[in-house]
Amino acid sequence: MKVIITENYNEMSKAAADLIAEEMNKKPNMVLGLATGSTPVGTYENLIKYNKENKVDFSQITTFNLDEYCGLNKENEQSYWYFMHDNLFNHVNINHNNINMLDGTNPDAEKECTSYDEKIEKAGGIDLQVLGMGHNGHIAFNEPCDYYSKGAHKVELQESTINANKRFFEDISQVPRASYTMGIGNIMHAKKVVMLVSGAEKAETVAKAFNGAIVPQVPASVLQLHNDFVLIMDKDAASKFSK
Ligand code: F6R
Repeated sequence: MKVIITENYNEMSKAAADLIAEEMNKKPNMVLGLATGSTPVGTYENLIKYNKENKVDFSQITTFNLDEYCGLNKENEQSYWYFMHDNLFNHVNINHNNINMLDGTNPDAEKECTSYDEKIEKAGGIDLQVLGMGHNGHIAFNEPCDYYSKGAHKVELQESTINANKRFFEDISQVPRASYTMGIGNIMHAKKVVMLVSGAEKAETVAKAFNGAIVPQVPASVLQLHNDFVLIMDKDAASKFSK
């Protein structure tokens, strides 16, 4: 595990974008796993800038997003489909046929998730997976529980996650109660994983996840077992972490 601690959010975002750009330049047709949420927004802004400056090329890149809310269609501004287009895809030269996201409107969870796993496999697996981390240590929407999940699956969101995500909705009743998500297995099979964490309110969870025991009750802790894992965080998030 490699740890990079930056002064603030902007530096974290630049460090992450630089790492992603370097990997994209090494393998222009790479398979890139992407996350939503507020943490990677600055990273995506930097990647958009690099793309406009011709420092990075998305034309042959294939993407797979981690997760999507159940029941929200693409036009819904709170859907992750909308978020990714608004914050990245609509501003770079990506081939839109190469964008893959779970379809939260498909009522057949089994079919949707199995076909997502198959698409990832067919693409040759994920070369670089970008991750954020929830306040309770969740990665993608793998909430704290008693086991690690393998492939994509449907999850019921925990109260703390619903509360954390209500800021994006008009009121809490509108936050979807379930989502489709990649499993821990999908994430652990990525060749390289980069996680971004920002802010003092996640410092406790960072320490638990990366100084503590590897347990599914703190899902992110499993990344300690990944052999090419880079944790990039600002100094507030790192304030309770010991190197
Ligand atoms: C998003 C995702 C989530 C977020 C996590 C942190 O695709 O998979 O695990 O990374 O909830 O969210 P923010 O960055 O908003 O704190």
